[in-house]
Amino acid sequence: MHIGIFATPDDAADEAAKIIIDAHTRPGFVLGVATGSTPLPLYTRLRKAHADGKSDLSGAQAFALDEYVGIAADHPERYRNVLLTELVKDGGTGLTDEALHTPNALTGDPYKAAEEYDASIREAGGVDIQILGIGADGHIGFNEPGGSLTSRTNVGALTEQTRRDNARFFDDDIDKVPTQCVTQGLGTIMEARQLVLLATGAAKADAVRELVEGGISARWPATIMQMHTNAIVLVDEPAAAKLELADYYKAQWKALHQA
Ligand code: F6R
Repeated sequence: MHIGIFATPDDAADEAAKIIIDAHTRPGFVLGVATGSTPLPLYTRLRKAHADGKSDLSGAQAFALDEYVGIAADHPERYRNVLLTELVKDGGTGLTDEALHTPNALTGDPYKAAEEYDASIREAGGVDIQILGIGADGHIGFNEPGGSLTSRTNVGALTEQTRRDNARFFDDDIDKVPTQCVTQGLGTIMEARQLVLLATGAAKADAVRELVEGGISARWPATIMQMHTNAIVLVDEPAAAKLELADYYKAQWKALHQA
């Protein structure tokens, strides 16, 4: 993994935007998109780059990592609606409504939806760049601790901590946070040709330490990324605060990316 440690979340988002903008003109480009707060500054940059004529995702397809089960179709926190707002609305990033794929968790059969979603990623030729956030408990997508490290898109249950963390999107009421989701599995995520994980803020410091320096374990699902040959971890200083080898990662980044 390559670890980029930046002074601010904006600097980390700049780097993530650069990676996507440099790659997105590849014919049939497929972007994997995350929701949550962390990638929002990145999406702001992709919209700005589109408005400035520097980026255009109109020929691309995008696949979300996950979707809540049991959320109303028109709920603003349904991930399809969040991503439509962030990437599609008012010209957004150029991405079209039809090219934004999210697990269809409204059918009453989330298990079938999960299987179909996994197949649809494969049919699109796989994900070129997968944007990821990380939960404080080490989840990526909604792959919570204790699951299979090679899982396919599946139906999962959110941990109490994740529901507490996400209550801020649901009137600060944990009871309003769905308990289930359809999520790309870790095996599915690992098939993306490049992984770009963003983590910002002190609340992610434990998860980032385990991700980068811990042993690979279902206790910290993101640690499977250590097995990927093209994974980049972009963090701000507070999220990097518990990394034992932070100085080395900084020197390595400088040598490889700013030489
Ligand atoms: C969202 C997702 C999650 C989030 C994670 C961090 O699609 O897959 O793994 O990336 O929960 O969320 P934030 O960025 O809100 O801290």
